[in-house]
Amino acid sequence: MRVQIRGINIAFEDRGEGPPMVFVHGYPLSRRIWDSQIEGLADVARLIAPDLRGHGDSGATPGTYSMDLLADDCLALLEALGIDQQVVLCGLSMGGYVAFAFYRKFPEKVAGLILAATRSGEDSPEGKANRDKAADLARQGGPNAIAGSMLPKMLSPKSYVGRPELVHSVMEIMQGTSLDGILGDLMGMKSRPDSTPALRAIEKPVLILHGSDDQLIPPSEAIAMQEAIPGAQLQVLPDAGHLLNMEQPLLFNKAIRGFLREIQP
Ligand code: MLT
Repeated sequence: MRVQIRGINIAFEDRGEGPPMVFVHGYPLSRRIWDSQIEGLADVARLIAPDLRGHGDSGATPGTYSMDLLADDCLALLEALGIDQQVVLCGLSMGGYVAFAFYRKFPEKVAGLILAATRSGEDSPEGKANRDKAADLARQGGPNAIAGSMLPKMLSPKSYVGRPELVHSVMEIMQGTSLDGILGDLMGMKSRPDSTPALRAIEKPVLILHGSDDQLIPPSEAIAMQEAIPGAQLQVLPDAGHLLNMEQPLLFNKAIRGFLREIQP
C-alpha cells in the first residue's frame, strides 16, 4: 500500500486485526525484513510496517534523516491511516533509535516498546568518524558498496555460512536502499542524542530482543538497557545475529505474542 505524507510517497504493509503495532526497520534496510512478522502475527495485531523515506519502495529526500524526522514520519503515517489509539512500537537497530525518538516526542501515543538489536547510546567519536567513512564509500560505490561491506556483519556467522537464501535476501534489501536514504540515515544516526539518561523514566512496558551473535551491537548493550528501564524484559535469542527477527522468526514472534498477551488489559 502507499500513502502520501509530508510530501513523500510512503510504501507500507498494513495487515491483520487487533491492537496496532508499528514495525520500524533499521539501516540500510526496508519493510521486507518484517515479512515473517507480517505473516506470523496478523492474527494478534494490526501490523503496520513502513519503508522509511529513502528506503525500499518509498520516495527519498536529500539531507539528514534525524531520528526525530523519521519518528514524525511514523506519526504522520498513523494519522493518515486514522489510527489515534496507542501503538506498540517495534524498532530494530536504527528503528530502535527511531522508537526512542518517537517515545520522547509522543509518549501518549505509545502502549509499549519492543527494542530489537538496538542500543540507547549515541555514537562514540570513532563511531561518528565511521559514519563519515561509510558516507564516502556510499558516494563512491553507491548502495551496492555499502551492502557488500555490511552483509557479513548483518547475520550471525552461522546464518552467513549456512543460509545462502537468507544472505541473498538481505543483500537485495540493502541494495534497494537509495543513496539519499543511506546518506540521510548515516548523518541522522551520527547526530542522534544519547537516549540512555531517559531510560529510567520510561513508563511503558518494554521488551528487549537481541541476537546472541549480533556482530554490530553486542548483547551487553541490551543487558544494560534492561537494567536501566524499569520492569523491562529481555530475551537473547540463540543462533541469531543483528537480523534476529529474520534468523529466528518463530522465537521472535513467540516473544512478541507473549508480550502482547501481558500488556493487553
Ligand atoms: C542498523 O542496523 O540500523 C544500523 O546498523 C545501526 C547503526 O549503524 O547504528
